[in-house]
Formats: sequence, C-alpha cells, structure tokens
Amino acid sequence: MGSPLDVFAAGVLAGRVALITGGGSGICRGIAAAFVRFGARVCIVGRKQDALDATAAAIGGDVLPFAADVRQPDALAAAVAATIAKFGALDTLVNGAAGNFLAPAAALSPNGFKTVLDIDLAGTFNASRAAFEALRTSGDGLVLNISATLHYHGTPLQIHASAAKAGVDAITRNLAVEWGRFGIRSCGLAPGPIGDTEGMRRLAPGSGELVAKMEKSIPAGRFGTIDEIAAAAVFLRSDAARYISGHVLVVDGGAVVSTPSFLDP
Ligand code: HXC
Repeated sequence: MGSPLDVFAAGVLAGRVALITGGGSGICRGIAAAFVRFGARVCIVGRKQDALDATAAAIGGDVLPFAADVRQPDALAAAVAATIAKFGALDTLVNGAAGNFLAPAAALSPNGFKTVLDIDLAGTFNASRAAFEALRTSGDGLVLNISATLHYHGTPLQIHASAAKAGVDAITRNLAVEWGRFGIRSCGLAPGPIGDTEGMRRLAPGSGELVAKMEKSIPAGRFGTIDEIAAAAVFLRSDAARYISGHVLVVDGGAVVSTPSFLDP
C-alpha cells in the first residue's frame, strides 16, 4: 500500500500559507509536512521552541516554527503577525493543538477538566479569532478544526476531551455560518484511532492485547495512519473541496458507525 498522499498533483497547494497549531508533533506535524510537500508555506505553533525547530528542520521547505500557547490570545496574534511578515499572507488555519489524558469523571479535578477545554476548545476559538482578518483578506480562507469521534458516544475516561471536541465541532458549524460571507470555509476533520501518535500512547498505553482488541473492533481492521489524516486535510484545503463548509469529515475506517453485534460480518 503506497501513501494516500501520492494521488495528489505536486502543486495542489501551491501559493497557500497555513498556520497549524499543534504542528510540532503528531497528526498536525503530518499535516504540516503534507502541506509543504504540495507547495504550501506553513507556520507551526506549539509550546516548545526547540521541538518546533526540530520539526521544521525535519520537514524542510518553507516552515516557520513559532512558539505560542493557544490559551494566550496575544501569543496567537503574534504568530499570525509573524506568519504574514514572513510569507506575506495567511489563508489557512488548522486548529490542532490539543491536550488529553485518561481520567474518570468522578476523580478528575475541576482544573483538569478546565485545562483541556482551555487548550482544545478556547484554543480553537482564540486562534480562529486571531486569524480572522488575514483569512478574510485572503479571499479564500479556510479554518480546519481537528476534532475526534469521542463525543459521538459516551467515551469512558474522556469527559473532558469529549466535551471539548463537541465544542470544537460546534465552532466548525458556527464559523461556516458566520464567516462564509467573508469567503472563509470552515471544516472539521475527525480522526479515529491513529497509530504512532501521542494521543494513542496516552489513551492506549502499552502494546499488545488492548491495541489488538481495538484494531479488531474497527471495520477496516487497523488503526489509521497520520498520512491518511493528512490526505484528508490536503483534500479539504484543495479546490476540490471549495463548496464544502460546515461539516466534519470523519476519517476512522468505519469505527464510529460500527456497534458490537452478535453477528459476525
Ligand atoms: C488527571 C490530570 C492529569 C492526568 C494533568 N491533570 N494530567 N488529571 N490525570 N493524567 C490535571 C492536573 O492535576 C491539573 O489539575 C490540571 O490537569 C492541569 O495540569 P498541568 O500539568 O498544570 O497542565 P499543563 O501543563 O497545561 O498541561 C496540559 C495537559 C498535558 C493537557 C495536562 O497533558 C499536556 O500538555 N498535553 C499536551 C500533549 C497531549 O496531551 N497530547 C495528546 C493530545 S491527543 P489540578 O487540579 O491538579 O491543578 C488528543 C486526541 C483526542 O487530544 C482524541 C483521541 C481519540
């Protein structure tokens, strides 16, 4: 099986400028690398400058590593300004910064709950707000929010992340309605379980039995790959998706629509 990214034409994102929160690692690092591969210039935002520098060096191409915490609106305004200073414009915002851990609702501290909402949900609003003027000016803006499928059901030990991601999906719809008239699309991308990510290391610690059970429960029979999420992001940024706004694209091998059954398909 080759990379799903191989289907795209080389210049499909030529001229695009994207700011990607959480772009220093995991899924959003993959999105950043894919955007650069297809001609975009990107600013990756995370909390640790040294980690961002290492990612930028590994990706190569036009990558601006900018340290900022999405909980701080002023830091995001500075990231947007730095992106425009370096690349001349900004037409794409990918909201991917997220924090998570496993915790039972009855034991989770109020501050633990709030911290994840501050990063995932308020961080998505903060970055969108900071980028709005640049996205509007571009005439062809996109807000791409990375959520999850946790909140489609009651997912144990995930009350904080589920509440946050449900809110992120609400932001996706709301911005589509409010900002469509400014030439800005707003889309969501909801990954299922993706292998080799910090999220999976936190949510399915260890290896072996639990991972095997999880993979068996997915109709596709396996975890997804970072490139499979990045391919969906490239599609949503491309002109092929120019009439898509306000929806969340689930990329999960069919996991969320499946349900335990006595029948063996
Ligand atoms: C219970 C915890 C906890 C844990 C932290 N807290 N970790 N509670 N179990 N394992 C509580 C703390 O006790 C504290 O509350 C509050 O949360 C804030 O903790 P801090 O460490 O001060 O916060 P901070 O330094 O800002 O770190 C944020 C973080 C951290 C979210 C807690 O884990 C982080 O920075 N994560 C970033 C990387 C990450 O999580 N990546 C995975 C994303 S995957 P008290 O009451 O003690 O003050 C993802 C995918 C979702 O999001 C979908 C998956 C399918």
